[in-house]
Amino acid sequence: MSQHHKEARFNPKLRTDMTPQQIAEMFDDFADDYDEEVLEKGLRAHELVGDFLATTYPESDRSSLKVLDVGAGTGFVGLKLKALGFTYVDALDPAQKMLDVAKTRNVYRRLICAFMDKNRVEEIETDFYDCITATAAFNEGLVPCNAFAQMIRIVKPGGRIVFTIPQKNINNAVEYRDRLLPLIDKLAAEGAWEVTAIPLADGQLAKSLGPGILYSLKVNVSEKYFEI
Ligand SMILES: C[S@@+](CC[C@H](N)C(=O)[O-])C[C@H]1O[C@@H](n2cnc3c(N)ncnc32)[C@H](O)[C@@H]1O
Repeated sequence: MSQHHKEARFNPKLRTDMTPQQIAEMFDDFADDYDEEVLEKGLRAHELVGDFLATTYPESDRSSLKVLDVGAGTGFVGLKLKALGFTYVDALDPAQKMLDVAKTRNVYRRLICAFMDKNRVEEIETDFYDCITATAAFNEGLVPCNAFAQMIRIVKPGGRIVFTIPQKNINNAVEYRDRLLPLIDKLAAEGAWEVTAIPLADGQLAKSLGPGILYSLKVNVSEKYFEI
C-alpha cells in the first residue's frame, strides 16, 4: 500500500489529483481497517440516514421497498437498515474489497462493484429502486455531481435519494463547491425533485467533523428529464 493512499484516507486535499480508479484502490487498501478507524472517529451518518428512512417509510412498507446503498463500503447502512426492517437492500461500491467485507454481514441482496458517476450502471434497470442512500460518499474524489443523472435514472419517479454531507465538503471539495448546491436548487426550481434539507450539528455525523446536512431529494421525473 502506498503511503500516499494511507494518508489520503482522511485528507481530502491529497485526493484532488487521484483518479476514480486510484480512489477505489485506496478503499481496497482500507477495507481491513475501515471499521475500526472510522468507528474510532465516531462516524454515525448511517445511523442518521437509517433513522430518517424509518421516519419516512412505515414499518409495514419496509420489507417491500427496494433500496440501493451507494458507496456502501463495509455495510454500515445495510446493517442499520436491516435492523429497522428494510430487507431489500443492494450495495454499490467500486472497491471490491470493501464489498467483500460488506458481504460477510449478510445484509445486502446484490453487491454491485461499480462507480456511481456519469456512466450508465448496466447492472441496474431504469426506475428500479424506491430509495437510494449514500453516507460518507459525498467527499473529495468520491461520488461526483454528475452521478445524480444516473441516480435519477435508477430511482423510480416518486422515489428518494437520501444522503449526508459535511458542510466543509460542500464548501471546500473541488467537485462540490460552487456546484452541488446550485445543482440541487436548479432541479428543485424545475420541479425535478423536492428537497428536504435537515441541518446537522457538529458531532452528529462524526466526532469533530463539523456541521453537515442530511438531504432527501424526492424525485419527480424519469431518466429522460435532462442531461445534467
Ligand atoms: C468513506 S466510505 C463510506 C462507506 C459507508 N457508506 C459508510 O458510511 O461507512 C466511501 C465509499 O465510497 C466508495 N466510492 C468511492 N467513489 C465512489 C463512486 N464514484 N460511486 C460509489 N461509491 C464510491 C468507496 O469505495 C468507499 O467504499
